[in-house]
Amino acid sequence: MCGIVGYVGHRPAYPYLIEGLKKLEYRGYDSAGIALHFGNALKVVKKAGKVAALEELTAVIEQGSPIGIGHTRWATHGIPSDNNAHPHTSQSGKLVLVHNGIIENYAALKEELLKKGYTFHSDTDSEVLLNFIEDIQQNNNCALEEAIRIALKRVSGAYVILLLSEEYPQTIFAARKGSPLVIGIGQGEHFLGSDASPMLGYTKEVVYINDYELAIIKPDELILKNLGNERLTPFVQQLDMELASIEKGGYEHFMLKEIYDQPAAIYDSLRGRLDAQQGQITLSGVDSIKDKLMAARRIIIVACGTSWHAGLLGEYLIEELCRVNVEVEYASEFRYRNPVIDEHDVIIALSQSGETADTLVALENAKTQGATIFGIVNVVGSSIARLSDAGAYTHAGPEIGVASTKAFTAQLTVLQLFALKLAQMKGTLDKTVAQELMQELALVPEKVQHILDTQLENIKKIASTYKDARDFLYLGRGYNFPIALEGALKLKEVSYIHAEGYPAAEMKHGPIALVDEHLPVVFVATKDRVHEKIISNMQEIKSRRGKLIAVVSEDDQTASSLSDDCIFIPQAHEIVAPLLSVIPLQLLSYYIGVERGSDVDKPRNLAKSVTVE
Ligand code: G6P
Repeated sequence: MCGIVGYVGHRPAYPYLIEGLKKLEYRGYDSAGIALHFGNALKVVKKAGKVAALEELTAVIEQGSPIGIGHTRWATHGIPSDNNAHPHTSQSGKLVLVHNGIIENYAALKEELLKKGYTFHSDTDSEVLLNFIEDIQQNNNCALEEAIRIALKRVSGAYVILLLSEEYPQTIFAARKGSPLVIGIGQGEHFLGSDASPMLGYTKEVVYINDYELAIIKPDELILKNLGNERLTPFVQQLDMELASIEKGGYEHFMLKEIYDQPAAIYDSLRGRLDAQQGQITLSGVDSIKDKLMAARRIIIVACGTSWHAGLLGEYLIEELCRVNVEVEYASEFRYRNPVIDEHDVIIALSQSGETADTLVALENAKTQGATIFGIVNVVGSSIARLSDAGAYTHAGPEIGVASTKAFTAQLTVLQLFALKLAQMKGTLDKTVAQELMQELALVPEKVQHILDTQLENIKKIASTYKDARDFLYLGRGYNFPIALEGALKLKEVSYIHAEGYPAAEMKHGPIALVDEHLPVVFVATKDRVHEKIISNMQEIKSRRGKLIAVVSEDDQTASSLSDDCIFIPQAHEIVAPLLSVIPLQLLSYYIGVERGSDVDKPRNLAKSVTVE
């Protein structure tokens, strides 16, 4: 986590740094800071709180420097405070650093440095790394570049670091392992960022830095080296992202905008891939690993958070349509539990950011053991996308709200396409059924739009009725069970109300003890093969006086008459219905969050891109 920016060129660095930090706040927002180089002196300003607090402080400082770095933090080592905020300054005062990641062996390094008389002003691992670099430079009497290389060979963990040195008034030193770094190339200037969003509007040419690479960046020169001091040729790519896509476009929050983006995002994820008329799916990534997929004894889906919920739905879908064994794994568990993997396994990696540390390392491990990786990723050029053997991007566009919405539905869309395509290849799906499902899928964008057009006021009212509840229970069965999990997660994230998702029938084995007249229970109860069963579960809650909020199909009298509050969604085949039933749950969470006064785009303690394990 943490967002970092840097600028070196011919204009004042400050506007790029401060605006860039605002765009990267989704990565962490408990403190922020910048450092500017004024030729012979380095000026650091930092502050606990969001970037807006830093901006107030920096409004009065001299801003004219054409070189600087900045940081917005998600605390790992040390509480959010002014001292723990980045940039950090070295013991001599001659170096400053921003860091994204975790230095795992920092305690041992700190001990070494303490013995040598170093003192520390923060609790961070980052300040340790900085002084470690300085110590190496002083002891070896070497160039800073060399000291960085030596230091990085000795640290374990993940990092992107940017360094400024009093000695080099025109140079930013940058290095990466495990956390992302993009360098934008301008005319006599370079822009740095954890992702490319800060540089939109400045340049379209970017270089994604790889692990174990060190960049020495001057206004008109970008030198790239590996840690063995060999020169590398930067691979310049064109940025495919528009400025408008990272702005709120008149909505009060990014989360609301992104909920409303969904008809377009789903359509974009289908475009050029689904031909419902001809009954054809085009996914070149699937074609490219066809042999592996056909021979795979099982498919393992690896993900975290909301992406894991999409993965769970993927399991239901792929097993049903393709008759192949599927396992869904939390990346953080999968990477450490020594799973049995070999070259017969295909792993589907699901990730919005493409940078989630646990997912990334889990995939690296699986790849080493011979597995084939298929990435379903939103951020183009991200680490997971690059690690994958093949893949299909979700075309959700940049997602800024920390609570994932459109990235989730885009992931479901691509999983639908994947399952249909694989089923066709394996011959496990009747042709007519396949075509019917494709037609259903093609109709999803307009059905989502219909929900947004017709249910908004109703959902706002429901949000207002239940906003003071202490707990919520979300229940669903079959394809709607992962949606119940996702609904509960969304509510927790943006309203801070405790919420649990459960399989509706399993609720009898515990959560039913919580039910009384104060507990809202959200049923995801669209018409499907287990509809009668879920109606019985609704009765069970009702007879214990729980408050029933139900997401139901438009013509469903039975479910609606049982409920205290009802949200109607269009009828759809049960396989595609989750793409619809999740929409009201996103809106419900959003409006409850807003009513309770939370910062829905940046909920407390969370970050969008979790690049620490
Ligand atoms: C964080 C985000 C979640 C996201 C999860 C996985 O926790 O707040 O919204 O689902 O990371 O992220 P990924 O980028 O891998 O999908």
